[in-house]
Amino acid sequence: MDTTIEDLKWRYATKQFDATKKISKNDLDTLLEGVQLSASSYGLQPYQIFVIENPEIREKLKTAAFNQSQLTEGSQVIVFANHKKLDEAYVDNYIKNIAQTRNMDVEDLQGMADTIKNSTLQLPDDKQNEWAQKQSYIALGFLLTTAASLKIDVCPMEGFSAEEFDKILGLEEKGLHTGVIACIGYRSEEDDMQHAAKVRKSKEDLFNFI
Ligand SMILES: Cc1cc2nc3c(=O)[nH]c(=O)nc-3n(C[C@H](O)[C@H](O)[C@H](O)COP(=O)(O)O)c2cc1C
Repeated sequence: MDTTIEDLKWRYATKQFDATKKISKNDLDTLLEGVQLSASSYGLQPYQIFVIENPEIREKLKTAAFNQSQLTEGSQVIVFANHKKLDEAYVDNYIKNIAQTRNMDVEDLQGMADTIKNSTLQLPDDKQNEWAQKQSYIALGFLLTTAASLKIDVCPMEGFSAEEFDKILGLEEKGLHTGVIACIGYRSEEDDMQHAAKVRKSKEDLFNFI
């Protein structure tokens, strides 16, 4: 079987982590590089990623996440915090990054800058937040796949109060909003869910070939 498929069958949304096991710095770096390499609309990456290890902060986050034990028993909590609203300066910075990285003139990228400014920046505020949050879910997907390839366990989560998370992490004043989170670490032997068969739609039910 293809190793990617094997890895994806190995992974599951971990309910109980082994609190004694920590992710090595090297593996964490690789995992985060996977997130860094995520695709995003126009490549704008309209989010910041927070890696939270601090036990007191994780205790507070757990309370804001219906006391789900993964918050404190995992090795780290990853918070995908999206920008609620982008501005022209954000787009200009991105364009500068492309110019530097690809050795181009900013002037030659003006068309691209205008396209982004005339589309994304024109969305109403709530739509911009929604759009940015969607981008962070793609990054979550990259995290899940990279983690599986490293045999690192993850529980992706929406079961938390975003408002509480924003307060605990001071995100509001940075124009950020908690979109989705992931607890990472190593499964506990006692987590029965690791033995549960995967429940998915059949291929016939899921895929449509036209
Ligand atoms: C965006 C998202 C949010 C989720 N929220 C939670 C959560 O708050 N708590 C939890 O235990 N599992 C959560 N899950 C895990 C799902 O229940 C799980 O991925 C799904 O049942 C499929 O099972 P599997 O991932 O083990 O294959 C979430 C998954 C995703 C993708």
